[in-house]
Amino acid sequence: MIETLVEKCPRVETERLVLRKWEERDLDEYIRLSSDPRVTEYYRSTPSSEVCEAALQSTLKSQEENGFCFPVVEDKQSGAFLGFCGLSIPDYSDLLPCEPCVEIGWQLFPEAWGKGIAGEAARFWLSFGFDTLQLDEVVAFTVVQNHRSRRVMEKLGMVHDPADDFDFPGTDPKHPLCRNVLYRLSKKRFLEQLNG
Ligand SMILES: CC(C)(COP(=O)(O)OP(=O)(O)OC[C@H]1O[C@@H](n2cnc3c(N)ncnc32)[C@H](O)[C@@H]1OP(=O)(O)O)[C@@H](O)C(=O)NCCC(=O)NCCS
Repeated sequence: MIETLVEKCPRVETERLVLRKWEERDLDEYIRLSSDPRVTEYYRSTPSSEVCEAALQSTLKSQEENGFCFPVVEDKQSGAFLGFCGLSIPDYSDLLPCEPCVEIGWQLFPEAWGKGIAGEAARFWLSFGFDTLQLDEVVAFTVVQNHRSRRVMEKLGMVHDPADDFDFPGTDPKHPLCRNVLYRLSKKRFLEQLNG
C-alpha cells in the first residue's frame, strides 16, 4: 500500500453522486441515518446521538490520520446527504479474524435504496483502492441475514468463502446477529472483471 503523498479520500463525482470526506455539518443527517430502524435492522444496537457525535469526531480524526473513513455519499443534483460508502480500516474494540485488512462498507437512507447507489459509489472506491492505493485485497462483511448488503457485495464480484465466516468478537454467540459472512475481492479478480 502507498503510505505517503496520496490523498486517500479525494472529493470525486460519479454519474449521480458526490463522494467526499466527512464534515462537522454532517452530524444531524448522520444522527437521522443512524436512528432509522430500517437502516439499523441488522445492527446489534442503535447508537444514541451522543454515540454518533463521538463516532463523527473519531471519523474526522481517522480521515486526517490515515485517510480512510467510509466517505459521505451526496446526491449530485440536490446536494442531499444520502449516507456513506467506501473504504475503511476496521477499528472495532476487538480484532476481527480478517485483520489486518481494508474493508468496504455502506449505509444509505431508505429513500435511496434500490437504485444501485451503493454499487456506484463502491465501484469508484474499489477502483481507487486497487489502482491508486495499490491495495491487494478489499473485504466486506455483514450479518448472515443482511441479504441486501450481501447482494451489493455479490454484484461487485466479491467472493464468499464460508470458511471465512466469523462470530463478531465480543458478541454472545447465541445473539441472532452474531454470525457474519465475509466477502473478499482481490486486485487480480477486480482487474479480470474489468477486462471482461
Ligand atoms: C445495503 C444498502 C447500502 C444497499 O444499497 P442500495 O444502493 O440500495 O443497493 P442496490 O440498489 O444494489 O439494491 C440492493 C440489491 O439487493 C436486492 N435485495 C433487496 N432486498 C433483498 C432481500 N431481502 N434479499 C435479497 N436481495 C435483496 C435488491 O433487489 C438489489 O439487487 P438487484 O439490483 O439485483 O435487484 C442499503 O440497503 C442500506 O443502506 N441498508 C441499511 C444499512 C446496511 O445494512 N448496511 C450494510 C451493513 S454491512
